[in-house]
Amino acid sequence: MARPRVLSGVQPTGSLHLGNWLGAIRNWVDLQDSHDTFFCVVDLHAITVPHDPARLAEDTLSTAALYLACGIDPARSTVFVQSQVSAHSELAWLLNCVTPLNWLERMIQFKEKALKQGDNVSVGLLDYPVLMAADILLYDADLVPVGEDQKQHLELARDIAQQRINARFAPRDPSGEPIAILRVPEPLILKQGARVMSLTDGSSKMSKSDPNEGSRINLLDSPELISKKIKRAKTDPVMGLVFGDPERPEADNLLGLYALLAGLSPEQAAADCAQMGWGQFKPLLAEAAVEALRPVQQRYSELRADPAGLLQVLEQGRCRATDVADATLARVRQALGFLA
Ligand code: TRP
Repeated sequence: MARPRVLSGVQPTGSLHLGNWLGAIRNWVDLQDSHDTFFCVVDLHAITVPHDPARLAEDTLSTAALYLACGIDPARSTVFVQSQVSAHSELAWLLNCVTPLNWLERMIQFKEKALKQGDNVSVGLLDYPVLMAADILLYDADLVPVGEDQKQHLELARDIAQQRINARFAPRDPSGEPIAILRVPEPLILKQGARVMSLTDGSSKMSKSDPNEGSRINLLDSPELISKKIKRAKTDPVMGLVFGDPERPEADNLLGLYALLAGLSPEQAAADCAQMGWGQFKPLLAEAAVEALRPVQQRYSELRADPAGLLQVLEQGRCRATDVADATLARVRQALGFLA
């Protein structure tokens, strides 16, 4: 029996941080054994807000290298760059023409990002979720690992596939049964404990778009910088690190981070740190972060030292991805009645 297919992606904007790793990529690594996994660098999404052309290619490569450095294995996963598979743009156009405008206007992330962009909101920003739907639907993905903030986008992809393509355009088999054109994906809700919050505000998510660099630890930060950021992380005046106190989101976040980085169960981490003051805890957390990232950074430098090898991995990924994506695109074109 074929293994269930999984697809996910991250934008190549800014550096990947601990939230991306612990919340997403580390789970992708585990899925490789049991699932047919596709991971892309979604560079077309990166230009939905103003971007720097001088950085796009480099950021795309570094993001791909970080996937590999974190343990994505090109022998078991298809690793590719979204813009190198033209079917993404093509399917996005076909889906655009069947997606109601008001489905996009009510997307929470669009409204938040549009607010930040002021009077410089591109059509691409509004269309972001349709491109994401194309990413997912092209690969007949069964499952899409998503965090809380992407659930609404996945729901939209399901609605487009089901209501706007399959329900309207599915051909019939000889007995009159509809033959689905697009597979309707399910969300894969990730294990608990993987939601990493900002170092400067324990109640908001660690994010690339936070203007404060001190709010996140990037995967490529030096040990000195990691220690400095943790030293400056927001704390509270209470002794002892505990989980679950709604008044102490920072304690919750940093203790959780410590457990993940040190490879301890939450119970173990809570027991170890129950009596500790922040002054004792922070160096411990910094050391755990530095040690956890050391092998990732080591592997990353090796990968970047061999640019031809990295490009070869992406070329192999492009070929495999193109085969699958083109077949899906052909089904949709045919169902919509285009000249063959
Ligand atoms: N929108 C996703 C994010 O910001 C990135 C993304 C683009 C994605 N295409 C995707 C995630 C397809 C999963 C599947 O996190």
